[in-house]
Amino acid sequence: MRALKIVHVSSEISPYSKSGGLADVTRSLPRALKRLGHQVMAITPYYGFIKEDKWTVENLNIHLSLNFDGQEYKFGFKKAICPDKYPVFFICQQRLFGSRHKRGSEMYNYPDNGLRFLLFNLAAIELIKNLKFEPQVIHCHDWHTGLIPNYLKIKYKKEEKFKNVATLFTIHNLLFQGPKDWWKIPINKKDNGRNLPPENLKKTEWINFVKRAVLNADIINTVSLRYAQEIMTEEYGCQMEKHFKKREKDIYGIINGIDYAIFNPQFDPNIYVHYDINVLEKKIENKLIFQKKYNLEVNAKIPIIGLANRLTEQKGFELIINLLDHLLKKDLQIVVVGSGGGKYREILRKSQKAFPKKLLFISPFREDIARKIYAASDIYLMPSRFEPCGISQLISLRYGSIPIVHAVGGLLDTVSDYNSATGRGNGFVFRSYNSYDLLFAIARALENHKREAAWRNLVRRSMKESYSWTLPAKKYVVLYRKAIKKMRTKNEKAKTIKEK
Ligand code: GLC
Repeated sequence: MRALKIVHVSSEISPYSKSGGLADVTRSLPRALKRLGHQVMAITPYYGFIKEDKWTVENLNIHLSLNFDGQEYKFGFKKAICPDKYPVFFICQQRLFGSRHKRGSEMYNYPDNGLRFLLFNLAAIELIKNLKFEPQVIHCHDWHTGLIPNYLKIKYKKEEKFKNVATLFTIHNLLFQGPKDWWKIPINKKDNGRNLPPENLKKTEWINFVKRAVLNADIINTVSLRYAQEIMTEEYGCQMEKHFKKREKDIYGIINGIDYAIFNPQFDPNIYVHYDINVLEKKIENKLIFQKKYNLEVNAKIPIIGLANRLTEQKGFELIINLLDHLLKKDLQIVVVGSGGGKYREILRKSQKAFPKKLLFISPFREDIARKIYAASDIYLMPSRFEPCGISQLISLRYGSIPIVHAVGGLLDTVSDYNSATGRGNGFVFRSYNSYDLLFAIARALENHKREAAWRNLVRRSMKESYSWTLPAKKYVVLYRKAIKKMRTKNEKAKTIKEK
């Protein structure tokens, strides 16, 4: 099989920029593809917080000027060879990306996001046009890149370079479809998705980037099989379900992997003591040191429930908050690290004051502390209302912290309910999204935690499971080939119609 040439486009790519799992995927998937022998490159915005002295970046001699609604925007481009040895190209526009770093690493919280990412999409296409690299597939990630398939299919249709380029659009989270919440846009302002996006500054706010991608991309996928089915239902479809239904045959699900070179208790530099399945007592050492360091009661027998996630409704904080007082009366400790979440943050702060020996809450999110939590905790809580894939539960499995999850999306594709009679299963799963069901799952986990030998077996088995990127990367290659085939068939059809 011939090697493929693939461009990844994303609004965030680790280690340069990261607000969530998207950045991990857009770092690790190209890396895994490269290992399989394919040629990859990536394109992302050059945010003001990406410091030139930290990374080796070179300026490219390509200059671009785009006119939009009577304004001129000048673009520059930079290139870096990322730590994983493939080229990452940066799109530089001072006003839209470069000068927005006043609030730390904030990438998205701006009123002109429609304009920012529309121009990012056009600049990405123009950059590819100027490079020697001849891609066969452009892989677009999440809404910020959703106009690329749209522009390619209409505006750039006749360009030699793009005639035979296929597009794959990956949905990492359907809640986000454009600069504004889709369901909050008045009906008469909603983007119909037809033709090209509007060239009017005000109207950029109402563009639905995801809809335009779904209408134009050759193939669409989400980050788990289950989520691919869920987005076709009213419950999880976020008002896009009918568009997905129409393209049902072209929608796939591929579960994400995790990078075991980064997430591995055998050599993670962030944890206190390294361990693996043969030396589980060292996991307990992590627990004891953690308890001491953060002034919790030092006792190996007390179960620690860990959480390292954004404090949002999606991640299940509504349920957690409801149960907090009740749980804190039990013989356990809860440790949370996470950013955001006004109301949730306040409640956690208050509870921490009331129960300082039992609840530890650290905000904003810190990766090094998150790793210590994975290593120190016995149980990992991830009761997301919906979850396209979820990466934390995969990390927690590798660190031997047994996940409690809601039966949705990627959580259900990766965690199965533990059955103490058969010893099967790698976590605790609850089916309906309410506090009682979550509480019941927590109670089952706590009961099982008391049975030390069986719990050790459960931990060992969970740590041995593999969710590396090799298999998902191979599945993406199959999808790329499908997308190429699809694009060719469409082109041939168009040609015959024209000839007639
Ligand atoms: C989004 C989703 C999460 C997924 C990640 C990477 O953050 O919410 O479930 O794991 O993207 O695909």
